[in-house]
Amino acid sequence: MKRRIVETADGSRTILLEDWQEQYHSLHGAIGEAYHVFLKSGLYTLQHKNVSVLEVGFGTGLNAIITFLEARKRNLNIRYTGLEAYPVGNEELRQLNYVEMLGEPDLGNAFREMHEVSWGEKHSISTFFSLTKVRKDFRDFSVSNAFHLIYFDAFGPRVQPELWTVEVFQTMFDALFPAGILVTYSAKGSVRRAMQQAGFLVEKLPGPPGKREMLRAVKPDISSGESLS
Ligand SMILES: C[S@@+](CC[C@H](N)C(=O)[O-])C[C@H]1O[C@@H](n2cnc3c(N)ncnc32)[C@H](O)[C@@H]1O
Repeated sequence: MKRRIVETADGSRTILLEDWQEQYHSLHGAIGEAYHVFLKSGLYTLQHKNVSVLEVGFGTGLNAIITFLEARKRNLNIRYTGLEAYPVGNEELRQLNYVEMLGEPDLGNAFREMHEVSWGEKHSISTFFSLTKVRKDFRDFSVSNAFHLIYFDAFGPRVQPELWTVEVFQTMFDALFPAGILVTYSAKGSVRRAMQQAGFLVEKLPGPPGKREMLRAVKPDISSGESLS
């Protein structure tokens, strides 16, 4: 499929898939969207300091590097797992400008390391951030009770409906600890219903620039008496 690097509204770049007319990030701002959906509506809402994050669609590593940056600022310890079937190549990575845009040059080493480390093993990117990259199709991933937070960042349901199904959300549900959270940029009715059928409590939140809404799904903590109704 033909791919091209394009600039988004906040100056950060993304990858456009021409045949699908789909991008890795919103054209209204790649960094802005990532902060809004995954940090502000996800990471920042957690109360604890030790957080295990699963990213579904590791891609360019943008979500991983902003999570690293914010963990450093907020004294969090992050165990980060990135699931990806089709890693982004070095030539494209070189053209992305996240480190420059984030304004902290020393992030360059962490960003490079995140992409260079081997797949299938846990690596310490710093004292407070470990990364395990798993090269796998989302649909073949199966773990239970292992994550506090899931960044669900697949291509949209318009182009990859097979990744937004009840079965996939059941896998995500199992992967979370009770009271764990999944956030995603999509607010589609069929996605919300698939999440609910998988057992999640789902709320609509204000979306990032250019999108009215997004979704945040919580795995009920049965022991706390939270209800599904
Ligand atoms: C919307 S992009 C987002 C990537 C990433 N979060 C980022 O910020 O760059 C979706 C990602 O999901 C990956 N992907 C698509 N289908 C997949 C599948 N079946 N299993 C695993 N990864 C998949 C793509 O290769 C791509 O990296």
